[in-house]
Amino acid sequence: MYIHPSALVEEGAIIGNGTRVWHLVQVRPGAKIGEDCIIGRGVSGVVIGNRVKVQNYVSIYHGVTIEDGVFVGPHAVFTNDKLPRAITPDGQIKSADDWVVSPTVVRYGASIGANSVLVCGITVGRWAMIGAGSVVTKDVPDYGLVVGNPATLIGYVREDGSRRSVDIHEV
Ligand SMILES: CC(C)(COP(=O)(O)OP(=O)(O)OC[C@H]1O[C@@H](n2cnc3c(N)ncnc32)[C@H](O)[C@@H]1OP(=O)(O)O)[C@@H](O)C(=O)NCCC(=O)NCCS
Repeated sequence: MYIHPSALVEEGAIIGNGTRVWHLVQVRPGAKIGEDCIIGRGVSGVVIGNRVKVQNYVSIYHGVTIEDGVFVGPHAVFTNDKLPRAITPDGQIKSADDWVVSPTVVRYGASIGANSVLVCGITVGRWAMIGAGSVVTKDVPDYGLVVGNPATLIGYVREDGSRRSVDIHEV
């Protein structure tokens, strides 16, 4: 395990063997990060499997589960509050208990392209591929390739990321 001197790993966070936590990363209590991961800046309160790569400037919050072997490109954003509001209908600041976490799951081997946004409450399937800059609002099937805003399914990929010549209507 390697933790860069500028990283803040708070008490109660669990980090697996062989994982490297890079500069200015904050890992909050309750976070569970597996073995042999590489963690860039902006991660807090999440569950991360083994051999996961989280590139720099990714924001991952409580309610997100990332399984083994997932790639998360730079500047990707995971949300966890579907209907965010700073204040209640009568104008009071919302407290930490005043909102609902919608869980998001990213399954084994999937890749999240750079600068994507994952609207919470969705599951990204095994080995799925999210194109750079996508806004993902719905579940993505296993091996599915989605792009755009809102992201739509345009095909399927293999484990190495290359396109499969299969029509989206055939699967
Ligand atoms: C926009 C939003 C409020 C809509 O929520 P909703 O009313 O429950 O909407 P739904 O999930 O039913 O989606 C309705 C349609 O809008 C699309 N859509 C939803 N959010 C979208 C977004 N952010 N960008 C583009 N399209 C979006 C959906 O794909 C769906 O399209 P369809 O009718 O063609 O199937 C929500 O999706 C969102 O983006 N919330 C903000 C989350 C956030 O930034 N949180 C920050 C704190 S963590």
